[in-house]
Amino acid sequence: MTTTPITPVLSADEAQALAGILAAHAGRPGALLPILHDVQHAFGHIPRASLAVIGRALNLSRAEVHGVVTYYDHFRTEPAGRHVIQVCRAEACQARGSEALWTHACRRTGCDEDRPTSADGQWTLEPVYCLGLCASGPSVQIGERLHARMNPASLDAKLAALDVAATAQGTEVSA
Ligand code: FES
Repeated sequence: MTTTPITPVLSADEAQALAGILAAHAGRPGALLPILHDVQHAFGHIPRASLAVIGRALNLSRAEVHGVVTYYDHFRTEPAGRHVIQVCRAEACQARGSEALWTHACRRTGCDEDRPTSADGQWTLEPVYCLGLCASGPSVQIGERLHARMNPASLDAKLAALDVAATAQGTEVSA
């Protein structure tokens, strides 16, 4: 039996949004990275189906675009969980305990390097290598917010607050 490979396809809305991003950068030298940033901002990740479209617009192969996407830790090719937690694992934060904090975050969220998003879709946990708060690490970014001098207890408190907010939103929706 032969199997047909599944080709990823963008929805009509996604294709339109991507076309708008490409049009905004048309003719600009060095447009690939800005385009990838805009795509991730718009979609929450870089859809696999967008790689060939971006490549065609920039005269690059799909493999070249894929190579850039996978080179940078910042870009993700799968949708993220509802909350994205980034723990700095660079040297200055390591010296202040970020490895223990990372291990704790893995346990707390059910994520790890091989499975960055929890099974329930609540959390995505990612390592980062400097958040610009080196003198006051360990540093963590949760969503758009930076947090300095974090430890397992303060991380738990922040994640618990997000759990409570999610529960409250669910209550509002179902009421
Ligand atoms: S090393 Fe962690 S914020 Fe710079």
